[in-house]
Amino acid sequence: VLVLCVLGAGVVAWVLTRPPIDTVGRVAFDRALAVPPLARSEVDAAGRRVFELRAQSGRSDLGHGGQTATWGYNGTHLGPTLRARRGEQVRVNITNGLGEDTTVHWHGMHLPARMDGGPHQPIRPGSTFSPEWRIDQPASTLWYHPHPHERTEKQVYRGLAGLFLVDDPATDVAALPHEYGVDDVPVVVQDKAFTDDGQLAEASPLGSDIGILGDSLLVNGTPKPYLPVTTDLVRLRVLNASTARSYNFAFSDGRPFTLIGTDGGLLDRPHQVDRLPLSPAERAEVLVAMRPGEQVVLRSVPPAPEGDFGVRRFQGGRDKFDVLQLRAAASLKPGPAVPAKLVDTPRLDPAEAAQTRTMTFTGRQINDRLMEHGRNDAVVTKGTTEVWTVRNGHGTPHSFHIHDVQFQVLSRTDGGPLPPHLSGWKDTIRLPPQQGYTVIMRFADYADPETPYMFHCHLLRHEDQGMMGQFIVVEPGDGPKSRAPADRTG
Ligand code: C2O
Ligand code: CU
Repeated sequence: VLVLCVLGAGVVAWVLTRPPIDTVGRVAFDRALAVPPLARSEVDAAGRRVFELRAQSGRSDLGHGGQTATWGYNGTHLGPTLRARRGEQVRVNITNGLGEDTTVHWHGMHLPARMDGGPHQPIRPGSTFSPEWRIDQPASTLWYHPHPHERTEKQVYRGLAGLFLVDDPATDVAALPHEYGVDDVPVVVQDKAFTDDGQLAEASPLGSDIGILGDSLLVNGTPKPYLPVTTDLVRLRVLNASTARSYNFAFSDGRPFTLIGTDGGLLDRPHQVDRLPLSPAERAEVLVAMRPGEQVVLRSVPPAPEGDFGVRRFQGGRDKFDVLQLRAAASLKPGPAVPAKLVDTPRLDPAEAAQTRTMTFTGRQINDRLMEHGRNDAVVTKGTTEVWTVRNGHGTPHSFHIHDVQFQVLSRTDGGPLPPHLSGWKDTIRLPPQQGYTVIMRFADYADPETPYMFHCHLLRHEDQGMMGQFIVVEPGDGPKSRAPADRTG
């Protein structure tokens, strides 16, 4: 009896003292989520909104004592959130304070190739590059990151990344939460591996065929973060800024949430989902309903075995992560009701396609070729629509990202259904082994026969290894230039 009593008391004590189930005994969310500051800007005499970015190195507290060597923009890790409205002319003065070349690419942005910040626009150490363009696309959550030849993985991994939010009076839905950092919150998710002395491990033991993989998660650079929630509806703008790892987001209690936007903007209508897969560089905007006083954890969960999402062995064996705890205050301000209708997106029509192409990803090559600076892999006529089938021809996961345009997904190569997160504007799409998609896009503006845009795998090691192609946009009637010997069509 005594033994049973002692055991019983032990069980009671354990039940009373064990961490709440949300921590899974692994993560004790003990830091408030950092929110990247909004970048300051000034409107100059010419009416341009001007931002300043400086790429620099320093030390940051990523949970290992503040001594971790990192890179950042205008700070030591990550960068501020740039924000501008459709129709505005923007200029960004980017100074390279690093000891090696870098570039800044505006991922998801529709802009001239010379401003795009790809490998053809290197910024030498100590110099400044000032791209300038007019914002002309729907309200969306875009981002910026380096894109230098063969060094993109390392530079992003060390911390160079930030958000670029586009506002558009025509497609901003007023009835959505929109107070930055309060009920409209950036969630920039990255995995890191640390050495014993608290430095970023670039030769990570988990590293695999797809690049660096870490087992520590950061959100906006904060380890073990919680978000204090003060409203009963929260909008999260989620960016997978990892260099290689894909996530399958879900909540710890399985609650449904509302998907409202993808890479290039808002969806026509909200969709209830309980999973959200994002491969590197993909974004989604979601709404989460909260009750007073509750706590719930945003997690990454294993994909369903039948899912098209992940191959565990390519993810360092880890497919479960706690990402971010949402902590609701005892009383919550009522937020807006979720609107039934969001925006009207014109559907691009495959019957109007001027060109179809097939891009097959195998090894580190696209259509059996590695990226070459002097070779254009496609010549696109300005003002035309194209249909591309992008497929993974082997057993390693890849993704497809294209600069300049947003695309719509027409179909899956295996005929399977298209989930809600592929129903809107996209610029990046995961290509599971042996699968692919047919996508449609319109190259509306910005002919420049001298300067190519890129398309590539957004697993950044693969990109660095040459899994990238180039295309130029030319005026109607302008044939391929000598730099474009072979224009592969499908
Ligand atoms: Cu986010 Cu070509 O890159
Ligand atoms: Cu790849």
